[in-house]
Amino acid sequence: MSDNSSPLVQPTTDYALEPAAQAPEIAAAPTVATLPPSAADKPTTPTEANKSAKKDYALVTGASSGIGEAIARLLASKKKPLVLVGRDETKLKKLAEDLRHKEGIDARFLAIDLARSKTLPNLPTALKRMGIKVDVLVNAAGFGKRGREATINYEDALNTVNLNCRATLALTKLFLPDMVARKKGAIINIAAAVGLFPVPLMATYAASKAFVVSWSQALSQELKKTGVRVLCVCPGPTATKFYERAGIRTSTVPHLQSLNDPQTIAEQIMQALKDGKTFAVVGSQPFLMKYLPKLVPRQALLQYGSSLLEETN
Ligand SMILES: NC(=O)c1ccc[n+]([C@@H]2O[C@H](COP(=O)([O-])OP(=O)(O)OC[C@H]3O[C@@H](n4cnc5c(N)ncnc54)[C@H](OP(=O)(O)O)[C@@H]3O)[C@@H](O)[C@H]2O)c1
Repeated sequence: MSDNSSPLVQPTTDYALEPAAQAPEIAAAPTVATLPPSAADKPTTPTEANKSAKKDYALVTGASSGIGEAIARLLASKKKPLVLVGRDETKLKKLAEDLRHKEGIDARFLAIDLARSKTLPNLPTALKRMGIKVDVLVNAAGFGKRGREATINYEDALNTVNLNCRATLALTKLFLPDMVARKKGAIINIAAAVGLFPVPLMATYAASKAFVVSWSQALSQELKKTGVRVLCVCPGPTATKFYERAGIRTSTVPHLQSLNDPQTIAEQIMQALKDGKTFAVVGSQPFLMKYLPKLVPRQALLQYGSSLLEETN
């Protein structure tokens, strides 16, 4: 973490807008003795790799924990090759090894801080060189801090937006053009039920998820008939490390006495994708979270929003 003692500290993610100095390192899982080495493990020259860039992978951020990990495990059980993204290299490596061993899939991992990365723009090229094409992108990495805005650490607040909004936007922009060109693909953006309301004491987090909801719904409308789908999901409270990282003691919050389990959330997300949904609130929710957003139908809001910039001729 950079020095946060100075009020002049700047989010290092500003570099994300500059050309990357070097390609990010995407690691293959260590070869598991019981499996034949995957062709993707063999060293290839860029030209050979370009020719063999034909495998379709799911890239899952937040794969080292919680909901992202549960989605990765579910995709692996359907034999989908994976690129697992997070910061915790040890956990990613262990998960990649585990999935490769249990499911016989090719699982790669990339340990990267998505809130600060300088190398993100080079990711699609680096993957293509390895023979990897991404047709499913799951933006599950997310973070937020509880507290009054006046007291929340400057860097934590900026990184909430950098991770939840900016990295989601960046990865989508990096992989979307190829999906549109190939007329296939799915992007799953994990927002949150609290993204449907302004939420004092988690104002930045809730607003960052409101961005994900609004942006994803508009995107899914734009992408109709392109063969590429965008699904935005709003999970209810789920038993993951999220709360500990947010500085929330769930035992002291009445609304957080009943938590969903991440596997159930992952299954509901995949079912929503299968059902062709573009927006889904998944998991059990506290009463108001479940019913209040339904008083103003989102579809009506979306239709209204869609008409706002229509041209007359
Ligand atoms: N839990 C809930 O109640 C709940 C409810 C609604 C929505 N959500 C959303 O669901 C998503 C998954 O959260 P979770 O509940 O599964 O929490 P979690 O267990 O804390 O998992 C968060 C994931 O995000 C990754 N991550 C965090 N900061 C990162 C960074 N700077 N760069 C790269 N990766 C980073 C973490 O990777 P490392 O551990 O490797 O850093 C981890 O894999 C988030 O978007 C969250 O906002 C959660």
